[in-house]
Amino acid sequence: MSKAIAGFSKLSKKEKIAWITDTYFSDPNQATALIEKYWNNDTKLQQLHDEFIENTISNFYLPLGIAPNFTINNKNYTLPMAIEESSVVAAASKSAKFWATRGGFKATVLDTEKIGQVHFIFKGDSSKLESFFETIKSKLIAETDSITANMQKRGGGIRTIELRDKTSELANYYQLHATFETVDSMGANFINSCLEQFAKTLKSEATTYPEFNEQEQNIQVVMSILSNYVPNCVVRAEVSCPVSDLNEDKDITPEEFAEQFITAIKIAEIEPFRAVTHNKGIMNGIDAVVLATGNDFRAVEAGVHAYAAKEGTYASLSHAEVKDGAFRFWIDVPLALGTVGGLTSLHPLVKFSLELLGKPSAKELMQIVAVAGLAQNFAALRSLTTTGIQQGHMKMHLMNILNQLEATETEKQKAVKHFEKNTVSYAAANEFVEGLRKVNA
Ligand code: MEV
Repeated sequence: MSKAIAGFSKLSKKEKIAWITDTYFSDPNQATALIEKYWNNDTKLQQLHDEFIENTISNFYLPLGIAPNFTINNKNYTLPMAIEESSVVAAASKSAKFWATRGGFKATVLDTEKIGQVHFIFKGDSSKLESFFETIKSKLIAETDSITANMQKRGGGIRTIELRDKTSELANYYQLHATFETVDSMGANFINSCLEQFAKTLKSEATTYPEFNEQEQNIQVVMSILSNYVPNCVVRAEVSCPVSDLNEDKDITPEEFAEQFITAIKIAEIEPFRAVTHNKGIMNGIDAVVLATGNDFRAVEAGVHAYAAKEGTYASLSHAEVKDGAFRFWIDVPLALGTVGGLTSLHPLVKFSLELLGKPSAKELMQIVAVAGLAQNFAALRSLTTTGIQQGHMKMHLMNILNQLEATETEKQKAVKHFEKNTVSYAAANEFVEGLRKVNA
């Protein structure tokens, strides 16, 4: 049977499900039942979710966890985290508690500049193009007035616009490179609308610019789009304390802990294979809060990793030092986030998460998210350089193993108690549960 279908998006939800289940599943009734099991009984709520994207058939759950006790700039926060990985929320909570008694986290927004570009091809004299750009610059801005009026009222708008000559890298390639302030919105629609207007003005003004010859009058706009690389939309989060306050672990002195920790960071600063995993751990915290607050985690991921490679080699986002007996650990991370617009006023759990955070501004959310990343990195490095990661990881993973083994509530309780003092593995958990079942058989 052919699996291609024409006009799928025009089918009703029921018809779409019938086509999928009949075409791909050995038991269509069972597949349909599963899809429907994940529907929300509240039809209005379900419709809201259906309409976020096209061809929605069901909902895909992720747990929403909560990490309390974060002190950030002397304010207490409980962080919402949407994530599937079992140890992330526990690690965040542990770090939060550790630093709450050592002055908490400090976070500062260094800048909030967003970037967008009109990419175009101009075949002709570049010095004439420069004069043309200077002539039309004020018109480029003026013709976006209707788009920028509201943003300007909120304190944002277009910051700068410049012509960039990229012809040494690609023949006849130029850009209008613009920077924006989008205040509490992530600003994607605003920036893209401004850019598309710039492109229109650029193209139409060129057709009547007297200095241009016929070829030069025909500017070819390739595309107008924001950049998710935002190296000047950066927040710094940090913690510090006297080295002597560092560790609660009896097996290692605070000085040894600091040394191991800093060496682990230095490795991630020079070794890309380690840096990627190091930064992945940071993203465990960042993505979870970004997702819970309805922000675009793909944009954040792309921008963060480009930033990590900005010196030419992929490197650690976080850094640490000991100076005059004080341990300091910090991260600089680019985060283009919004607390208005997008999903923020639509998704009920996003609204819930933002209220849980005290309805933060975008700047405050940048600080919270950066702290979530730093906290996660601290927890990971603390485990890695002392007990090893698997002890904590497998403890948190135990419940997933027990669910795979279809353990009963009583079996789970007994297993959790047993593995407080024993090493968790799939084999060990299986053996333990089978042992219980044999006794009870
Ligand atoms: C696992 O999700 C994240 C870690 O691998 C991070 C790290 O190695 O730093 C534990």
